[in-house]
Amino acid sequence: MRIRDAVSIADLRMLASRRTPKFVFQPVEEGTESGRGQRANVDAFARRVLVPRVAEEPVTADLSTTVFGRRYAAPFGISAIGYAGKMWPGADRALAEAAVAADLPFMLSMGTVADIESITRLAPGRVWQQLYAARDTRITDEFIGRARDCGVDVLVHTVDMPVSPAPDYVSRTGIRPPLPLPLARLPGIAWECLTHPAWTMAMARVGRVPRLEGWARYVGQRASARDVLKFVGSQMISGAGWREVERIRRAWPGKLVVKGLLCGADVARAHAVGADAVTVSNHGGNKLDAAIASLDALDAIVGAMAEAERPLLFFDGGIRRGSDAAIAHASGAAFNFVGRAALYGMLAGGSAGALKAISCSRVNSRDRCSISASRRSTRSGLRMSVPPTPPTARSSVGTSARGGYKKALPRRKLSFGAEGQSECSICRRTRG
Ligand SMILES: Cc1cc2nc3c(=O)[nH]c(=O)nc-3n(C[C@H](O)[C@H](O)[C@H](O)COP(=O)(O)O)c2cc1C
Repeated sequence: MRIRDAVSIADLRMLASRRTPKFVFQPVEEGTESGRGQRANVDAFARRVLVPRVAEEPVTADLSTTVFGRRYAAPFGISAIGYAGKMWPGADRALAEAAVAADLPFMLSMGTVADIESITRLAPGRVWQQLYAARDTRITDEFIGRARDCGVDVLVHTVDMPVSPAPDYVSRTGIRPPLPLPLARLPGIAWECLTHPAWTMAMARVGRVPRLEGWARYVGQRASARDVLKFVGSQMISGAGWREVERIRRAWPGKLVVKGLLCGADVARAHAVGADAVTVSNHGGNKLDAAIASLDALDAIVGAMAEAERPLLFFDGGIRRGSDAAIAHASGAAFNFVGRAALYGMLAGGSAGALKAISCSRVNSRDRCSISASRRSTRSGLRMSVPPTPPTARSSVGTSARGGYKKALPRRKLSFGAEGQSECSICRRTRG
């Protein structure tokens, strides 16, 4: 199969897995530990169905969506993919080019090979900067300043990565290029390189291990890719918490999105500290394999909090089809992001592959009409029905994007946990 024959993200995933060595592909797939977390995200969509409704008025097939005052061609963007340029040379540029061609926002990870200066030149007006809190706050502040100087309007502060993910594959093999390449594994690595010539040639053309350029200045311009990576590892996984979110809010004059929330109390806290939006996300299952699926968390949050009590809700986790995006939208997400879907496309065929992934993620024309309808009127368009005992709600009531859940689920008072206590009343109910 070639890119042009692919009709789904599953096709692109298969092409990507054929084109890239296992030691590149498998960790992406697993996220952390066994990969249960990312599978849970996908499975959560399989438990929902849509019940299309006839619209009150004629509906035009228009997916364009305005977010933070800017109109994009579809209600989703490409999420942050750290180290993408290490998986395939030029990946950051390929993803940014696809976002430009499709007129979607591109969330640039703080851990990219290409730096923000070159990506914003390539995709002016479309880049959102993703930011972890570095241990050294001067580095965080410099990233913020560079984003501002490059004309970026939206900062996405990811708060859910206190420790580095550990896919079982990496733990088992010890292969995490360009860092440990255990001697005992070299024959296997060589075999993977030989059997994936497109990847090997692409790497050979670059002639060196791709370096995280946005970070090189903090280590020294002559630092090796390995040195830079070690430095990033020592800085980026901070788990700095709410105090840092507040500090970043004060430092950043533009729109602030807090990414990686799964619980109503945290969403309320983000609202209180002045976030303009939050992304309901479990990091694609990459941080905690037993984490609640993003979609289940979205249901619980929307069910328990009135719109006035929360900032704008964005969503990511498990979107592999247009209908998944439609379900997330019908569940209350104002805007969605795709991670692996775009990455599979890029690994399968560079920016053309990423563009193909975007077109597969766009809903087909029938769903498009439904989405337009649901956005225009709560009395028409999509209705979502939930099977008998979903993990988020012991309710079999069919729900609409907005009011339905509020009727189905009694509103709970949100309680902030004491310092270090992560559960809120919504999470407790979710766990039964
Ligand atoms: C390989 C990989 C790298 C990622 N790197 C980052 C990152 O640097 N920053 C971040 O906030 N999220 C990162 N994420 C999470 C994504 O932005 C997004 O939340 C997640 O992929 C959505 O789930 P999906 O892959 O099922 O679409 C990464 C995800 C993957 C798969």
